[in-house]
Amino acid sequence: MAYVTEQNLTNVVLERWKDIPDPRLRQVMGALIKHLHAFVREIEPTGAEWFSAIDFLTRTGKLCDEKRQEFILFSDVMGVSMLVDAINHRLPTGATPTTVEGPFHVPDAPEIENGGNMAVGAPGIPCFVSGTVRDLNGKPISGATLDLWQTDGDGLYEAQKGTEEPWMRGLYHAQPDGSYLVHTVAPIAYTIPMDGTVGDLVKRTNVSHMRPAHIHFCVEAPGYRRVVTHLFQRGDEYIETDVVYGVKEPLIVDFVKKPPGKAPNGEIVNTPYYEVHYDFVLQAQAAAKAA
Ligand code: BEZ
Ligand code: FE
Repeated sequence: MAYVTEQNLTNVVLERWKDIPDPRLRQVMGALIKHLHAFVREIEPTGAEWFSAIDFLTRTGKLCDEKRQEFILFSDVMGVSMLVDAINHRLPTGATPTTVEGPFHVPDAPEIENGGNMAVGAPGIPCFVSGTVRDLNGKPISGATLDLWQTDGDGLYEAQKGTEEPWMRGLYHAQPDGSYLVHTVAPIAYTIPMDGTVGDLVKRTNVSHMRPAHIHFCVEAPGYRRVVTHLFQRGDEYIETDVVYGVKEPLIVDFVKKPPGKAPNGEIVNTPYYEVHYDFVLQAQAAAKAA
């Protein structure tokens, strides 16, 4: 057995961990040891700095419970969540790209009829989102569901509003011709939670802590790959500096301002409102398996 020196330590550790029976764990641990040691060799932390890194991770863990996940937020702002998402959703050109789900999705959204309002009583500029759910050949898909969640016009999600009733979310069913129509209010840009360890870290940098205005969607249809994604408002001041790197070019859409009048769902709206158009394109599950 080799006794350790600064120079041979990485190889000694790799040698010790090389015979793990589970091949995936063997691969993961080999890479982890290699990259961790390379990081420490590059940084050359003092003992105090290493202790402060451990303290950061300890405090981050203590902030995690079933309501809050500071480690996921850390992964988000490091771009790791989007990288994992990208690796697992290598979709063909033309398919609607995915983005991170984020922490604000609440299961079992209330079902809302086509054209119905998921933002009853919410502050904000009325907004109508419409389009068609299609396959890669442009053929409308029937039987699709669209689960939406977003902030209200004050920038608050349901969890932050603390209401008993559902807030700013809804489950829509696309029509037999694949079309859908959502009545909501326009979301606004908002900050990630800044009262934890991730906020402390971001405050010591010049990195923006803002997310550009967006609406979250989970679109599903039998026989097709589920897409978890967002639509972003073109022109938002944070569109190029999203703190969680969620913006992909095909997901930026125009929020077209309309004067008061008859809205796409036939209702009369007495204030200016927005219209947004987007066709979701899903990949067939069979095609995904063959690829
Ligand atoms: C969100 O879009 O809801 C979100 C995503 C990642 C971190 C914080 C918020
Ligand atoms: Fe969000």
